[in-house]
Amino acid sequence: MSCVLGIETTCDETACAVVEDGRWVRSNVVRTQIDLHEKYGGVVPEIAARAHIEWLNDIISEAMARAGVSASDLTGIGVAHCPGLVGCLLIGVSAAKALAYAWDKPLVGVNHVHAHLYAGALVPAEKAADIMARSLEQPPLPALGLVISGGHTTLFEVENFNALHRLGATIDDAVGEAFDKVAAILQLGYPGGPLVEKLSRHGHANAVKFPLSLLGKESLDFSFSGLKTAVLYHVNGRRGTQRTSADLSEQQRADTAAAFERTVVEILEIKVRRAMAMRRYGSLIVGGGVSANQAVRSMLQRVAQEAGMALILPAMEYCTDNAAMIAGLAAELFKQGQTADLDLSVIATA
Ligand code: KG4
Ligand code: ZN
Repeated sequence: MSCVLGIETTCDETACAVVEDGRWVRSNVVRTQIDLHEKYGGVVPEIAARAHIEWLNDIISEAMARAGVSASDLTGIGVAHCPGLVGCLLIGVSAAKALAYAWDKPLVGVNHVHAHLYAGALVPAEKAADIMARSLEQPPLPALGLVISGGHTTLFEVENFNALHRLGATIDDAVGEAFDKVAAILQLGYPGGPLVEKLSRHGHANAVKFPLSLLGKESLDFSFSGLKTAVLYHVNGRRGTQRTSADLSEQQRADTAAAFERTVVEILEIKVRRAMAMRRYGSLIVGGGVSANQAVRSMLQRVAQEAGMALILPAMEYCTDNAAMIAGLAAELFKQGQTADLDLSVIATA
């Protein structure tokens, strides 16, 4: 049996988790810094890094206590070392190195974006008894991977979890970032994704037509900044007008949210279908905060079913940033013989 401690400090969540055999989540502690950054309208790297320093020791202790494990039970430590805010990454990586050294445990660096794709394998340990097979069934490979988060929108060819090749990515805003910006335009609050989703349930997606930005005919890259600007002009009017979302009726606001969400779903569907037409994949693996969106999930289910492919989606609690996905992928990397030395470095972009 393996028992891996995962540490996640790439951005504005301080998180630690313990995962057994790469699958069973014994504990998953996530402390968000939303309150600290709200008044600045975005994450302030310096404030985020300081909060990680202050909180991380407690979060690690809490994750170990909730999992009921001590250092001697751990088989290794995994830490998100890329991509992210450098000052934030350094806190998690320094803590992981110190623990690996003090406890004499193997260490491995995990790519946060790749870990989002591993999230679909995770199951809370208390549900393990309900699931007959306690071994981790690998999704049929190669898989098509799609990460849709606040920082990334990327399509991958997944040969295995140690070999992911990027097929395309956003050239401007990430899809979650577009949800957050549209939420700001509609004055809904932060993080915007769940709030836009909630509002769009009362709206008519056909009431407004926003442009579909698809880039080249074959392109697997994404662009969401034009869509965000189209929503801005629709709500606030062109430059020079004084309108805000407060001048729209409740129905008009809901229609705007629904039309935006529908446009995002259409763009994602077209790109996934394009990638599927280029190579035969055994499964479709999706992760990241936006994979919590029901309209996105339904579209993916339909597309995968039509193609006869398995669809691997994370349980809701593992869609947004967490350390269980870091521990899970770390367990997989350990299994493949990967470890890092104590000079493991952080990488801002990867
Ligand atoms: O994966 P994540 O926690 O962080 C990054 O790695 O970036 O994703 C956070 C993003 C935010 O932009 C948030 O608005 C979006 O995921 N999100 C959603 C939903 N839940 C979270 N977007 C659309 N619908 C949702 N239900
Ligand atoms: Zn993330």
